[in-house]
Amino acid sequence: MASEIQTLITFFGATGDLAKRMLYPAVFNLYKKGYLQKHFAVVGTARQDITTDEFREMVRHSIDADGKQDSAQVNDFLKHFSYCASDVTEASGYHDLRATIDAAEKEFDIPGNRIFYMSVAPRFFGTIAQYLKSEDLLAKQGFNRLMIEKPFGTSYETAEALQNELEAAFNDDQLYRIDHFLGKEMVLNIAPIRFGNPVLAAAWNKDFIKNVQVTLAETLGVEERAGYYDTAGALLDMIQNHAMQIVGWLAMETPKSFKDQDIRDAKNAAFSSLKIYDEAEVNRYFVRGQYGAGQSPDQKAYTQEPDVPADSKNNTYIAGELQFNMPRWEGVPFYVRSGKRMAKKTTRVDVVFKAGTLPLGAAQEPQETVLTIVVSPDEKIQMTLNAKDVSDTYSTHLIDLDWEPTAAEKAATPAPYERMIHDAMDGNGSNFADWHGVATAWKFTDAISKVYAENKAPLETYPSGSMGPKAADELLARNGDHWVFQG
Ligand SMILES: NC(=O)c1ccc[n+]([C@@H]2O[C@H](COP(=O)([O-])OP(=O)(O)OC[C@H]3O[C@@H](n4cnc5c(N)ncnc54)[C@H](OP(=O)(O)O)[C@@H]3O)[C@@H](O)[C@H]2O)c1
Repeated sequence: MASEIQTLITFFGATGDLAKRMLYPAVFNLYKKGYLQKHFAVVGTARQDITTDEFREMVRHSIDADGKQDSAQVNDFLKHFSYCASDVTEASGYHDLRATIDAAEKEFDIPGNRIFYMSVAPRFFGTIAQYLKSEDLLAKQGFNRLMIEKPFGTSYETAEALQNELEAAFNDDQLYRIDHFLGKEMVLNIAPIRFGNPVLAAAWNKDFIKNVQVTLAETLGVEERAGYYDTAGALLDMIQNHAMQIVGWLAMETPKSFKDQDIRDAKNAAFSSLKIYDEAEVNRYFVRGQYGAGQSPDQKAYTQEPDVPADSKNNTYIAGELQFNMPRWEGVPFYVRSGKRMAKKTTRVDVVFKAGTLPLGAAQEPQETVLTIVVSPDEKIQMTLNAKDVSDTYSTHLIDLDWEPTAAEKAATPAPYERMIHDAMDGNGSNFADWHGVATAWKFTDAISKVYAENKAPLETYPSGSMGPKAADELLARNGDHWVFQG
């Protein structure tokens, strides 16, 4: 059994979708594993006027809807939960909340150590942080940490304003900005693969790597999210946050140690050297697309979808090349792409290594090899190698080395929210989005958004069910590259 991390977690937005679907099951798993034992409490708050007993029943349903859990264990767990109705925009609500938190802390003998999880609309993040301080809800001893849902701003300007509001009440090292892709097992695998194998660590640079590719492809269309999605598009919905955070692990310098701050510093060294594009460069290095109709009648064009303006120029697909002006990556393109209604759903990383030479006069010379990390929906690690073909010559062909976790390993893998709540309890910020990286990502995408808002770049269409516009293939072909994943 793991050792206990004595903590009091307050969930804002305690009656919401995310809390019920993800957060309570995550906390329950931490309890079952022993990270939470006796000295912990969970306080939920939202405006809905329910009693603590009703709240506990709501949580019971979220962790044990089918009644298959050990009911004594569930009951013991739920005893640690209490509820306080409050409106986050009114100071008076925080007085009742403080009393509920103080009572829970006393009942379960918790030595401070407060986590405040903001599972509410982003417009409330700054307000809550400021009231937590002004209304005296912060622990006097132990730690105070703030977990912040996404999105963190909608531009650099709004993100910076939010950061300033948060920093008026908390230090930056108390802020845990969630990007749940960073909690995915195969994203967490990038560092061990890269740094745990000296052969790969030594080759992780421009001398051996030809290009790096990050693909986040969805098969679904906009569904019911047009109101939000038509203002965000693939650029802000997927590239600015998830794709760039994954790139952070791939492009980072070698950290001095695997401590939180050293990892952040190593990622920030890369983000500091990211080239921000001007209008001509946006056109040269980025492609925006929008899905048209597909083969099947239910695959409508984006502009025919419910609530999408018929003249929308929104990007449902983005592909682009990132460049890092640092010695390690001189001349190495980092390609990112993300789109809706693509041929296949996948989140994956492909690291393309340069082809070697084997001057033995063989018909087939060695080819580029690829390290692939498939993040979801499958989980896989693959590597191709050049090996001898069965023939009388030294012709080579590519062979595959494949690994995927067993069913037992998959079952034992913590879900991203479990991992992130655990890491926040443990004070480990390395799997959260650092402000410098978030700020750089916004500056980078703002430069692209500006060109698109002024309609100074072509909008390519691609058929639903394809892997995106041809222009995205040409983007790579210009460098002598191609997308490894073809759908
Ligand atoms: N759902 C997901 O899968 C998901 C995934 C990634 C990120 N997120 C992020 O997580 C956050 C929460 O999303 P959600 O889907 O759970 O939203 P939601 O279902 O709409 O829940 C919002 C919660 O906030 C509470 N709330 C609203 N106004 C309030 C106020 N003035 N004072 C106090 N509480 C208030 C609501 O309860 P009352 O109405 O009773 O007050 C409810 O508990 C958002 O930032 C979202 O972007 C969600």
